[in-house]
Amino acid sequence: MQRAAMLAALALALLLQSALTSALESNTVRAAADEPIWGYQCVKERCERVLVHDAEGRARAVQALSVCKLTCGTSANLWPRPRHLHTSKTLDWVNYSSINVETRGDDGSDYRNHRGGSLLQQASELFREQQMRKATIKDGTPLVKTGGKTLEVTVSLRDPGRHQLTLNTDEGYELFVKIMSDGRINTTIIADNFFGARHALETLNQLIVLDDLEKQLRLPREVTIRDSPAFPYRGVLLDTSRNFVSVDAIKRTLDAMAASKLNTFHWHITDSHSFPFVSQSFPKFHLYGAYTPAEVYTPTEVVDVVAYGRVRGVRVLPELDAPAHVGEGWQWVGDNATVCVKAEPWQKYCVEPPCGQLNPTVDKVYDLLGGLYHDMLSLFKPDMFHMGGDEVNFNCWNNTDSIVEWMVKKNLSGRQEDDFRMVWDHFQKRAYEKLVEANHGHELPVVIWTSGLTAPGKVDRYLDPKKYIIQIWTKGDDPLIKELAEKKYRLIFSNYEALYFDCGFGAWVGEGNNWCSPYIGWQKVYDNDLKKLLRNLGVEPDQTSVLGAEATLWTEQADSHSVDGRLWPRAAAMAERLWSDPVTGWQAAEYRMVSHRERLVKLGVQADSLQPQWCHQNEGYCYLSHNIQGEH
Ligand SMILES: *[C@@H]1O[C@H](CO)[C@@H](O)[C@H](O)[C@H]1NC(C)=O
Ligand SMILES: *[C@@H]1O[C@H](CO)[C@@H](O)[C@H](O)[C@H]1NC(C)=O
Ligand SMILES: *[C@@H]1O[C@H](CO)[C@@H](O)[C@H](O)[C@H]1NC(C)=O
Ligand SMILES: *[C@@H]1O[C@H](CO)[C@@H](O)[C@H](O)[C@H]1NC(C)=O
Ligand SMILES: *[C@@H]1O[C@H](CO)[C@@H](O)[C@H](O)[C@H]1NC(C)=O
Repeated sequence: MQRAAMLAALALALLLQSALTSALESNTVRAAADEPIWGYQCVKERCERVLVHDAEGRARAVQALSVCKLTCGTSANLWPRPRHLHTSKTLDWVNYSSINVETRGDDGSDYRNHRGGSLLQQASELFREQQMRKATIKDGTPLVKTGGKTLEVTVSLRDPGRHQLTLNTDEGYELFVKIMSDGRINTTIIADNFFGARHALETLNQLIVLDDLEKQLRLPREVTIRDSPAFPYRGVLLDTSRNFVSVDAIKRTLDAMAASKLNTFHWHITDSHSFPFVSQSFPKFHLYGAYTPAEVYTPTEVVDVVAYGRVRGVRVLPELDAPAHVGEGWQWVGDNATVCVKAEPWQKYCVEPPCGQLNPTVDKVYDLLGGLYHDMLSLFKPDMFHMGGDEVNFNCWNNTDSIVEWMVKKNLSGRQEDDFRMVWDHFQKRAYEKLVEANHGHELPVVIWTSGLTAPGKVDRYLDPKKYIIQIWTKGDDPLIKELAEKKYRLIFSNYEALYFDCGFGAWVGEGNNWCSPYIGWQKVYDNDLKKLLRNLGVEPDQTSVLGAEATLWTEQADSHSVDGRLWPRAAAMAERLWSDPVTGWQAAEYRMVSHRERLVKLGVQADSLQPQWCHQNEGYCYLSHNIQGEH
């Protein structure tokens, strides 16, 4: 099977290559049916659409839209905006079939001998393919003329061995472009490790544009960029339980994340609705829990997704939500391991149908969790883990005789909320032990949602700030955030009023709009300034350990066919907030945001349209109030 696929790929590659060579030989350039009559000029930092010829038929000095956007303004149309950049207005013509990425250390050592270096090798290949795709149409016919300068890219890493992203990984990079005396273009990338170098390649990719007037790939002649992210955790959550999401759709998400320098794909892989994860320790989970036998993630697919993400600078972070948000898939276990599954009326036992929670008094529950943790750790090889811990319904446990009896034995007979928190705490501690055991006795950072265990005034009774990172999903003005910050928890923001991308659609139980409507526009996402949120709560951001933020897509109403549009380009708005932490608001980013959306579409991501294309071509005309000036 694999061999056949390899042969097919080889045949395709040969076919492409021969199509390419013959196209080059005959020097055919795929010309548009008509030469364009519109071009662009940079006027007051805005690209103005003008006719290529004036009324007398004289040619005007015009640029392609891509070139104008690259050279007009101060951000070189980059997304996210680098922290420090200088790019020349003069451009060079790049020979797209002559791009060499040198991944050899200063001392001549071959980075490919390091695991970080082999990642770099793959990322370089991706980079070259991206340029090839810009320059040619699918059958290999070039969109550009033959010619241009050779692009030499030299990557220098201080730590070529690093192949895993952690919360301490330095993702910064420096990128320099200059012309060499022999006419070649010299690009130098300096980074601590692969992850920074990959971001540099992404920036370089964005700086190379297809000029459809000159029919060239073009790059600024001089570039100096020094860049690093403001926050180390920049995530997207995708729920694959409420609806199944195909591996292809997940890969498109990873492509768009890489293009936006996001670094964490939080995979909410299971929930009450379905269990698509194929567990090697307990293969009955997916047999009972997947929607159909085909809608599963096999170990091979998980490993593939993890590798796909890593080359794109993205960690794939698994979540096994427990003790609530379980149900389907656990039917085979018996022994009262789960309680309230599909309980009716659901409103009494959970937040949405179907209900289901684990029974913390049953030993077998911990053995099963241990197996699942083991499976996930060995496939994802994560540097951190998400244990969920969301929305336990005490009424469910309170209505389960075996749990109440157990509580009496443990002297928790009051049956008050705090008694149930003790039960939850008992669960969390035992589950945590199982996780550490599955990780060969090593602790790793664990994320948990704000929930009953993080109740005001109580959180530090249950959760050790050295062990637990808290992901906030309540609103950005929740006073609990101040308490968590003061108690020194590391924080990830998913404040729902700005970062829940499932909000604003029709209801799926009953009628009207869904619970967290209205729809959140990209502008609000962009302006979700974490430091401002903290200051508004009276917390000094510099004294706080804010790791970053995460956009979430709960998929009750989305699946493979719609995740692209739900996530993109809004998640990219968050990406710039977290990378550049701009002092300006969305207005200053608008033209670039619209351009970035086009970039995502070219990657094959079905990102939502933000504006008529007319606005993309007529910068500065689509506004609401007069005092707003766009800046690139
Ligand atoms: C562009 O690169 C190709 C492949 O290296 C080479 O054959 C060709 O001569 C180059 N074109 C120019 C104008 O240098
Ligand atoms: C590009 O410039 C850097 C810094 O000046 C130099 O170290 C490197 O060797 C040059 N690359 C090539 C291919 O000449
Ligand atoms: C499940 O719980 C009920 C009620 O406490 C009990 O009667 C029953 O024996 C339990 N079943 C198993 C298999 O433990
Ligand atoms: C429960 O309380 C009783 C009386 O105070 C005590 O004797 C017993 O040891 C306690 N049991 C547990 C499990 O803490
Ligand atoms: C649990 O049930 C008992 C008996 O109905 C009730 O008194 C108690 O308030 C309930 N506890 C919670 C936390 O709902």
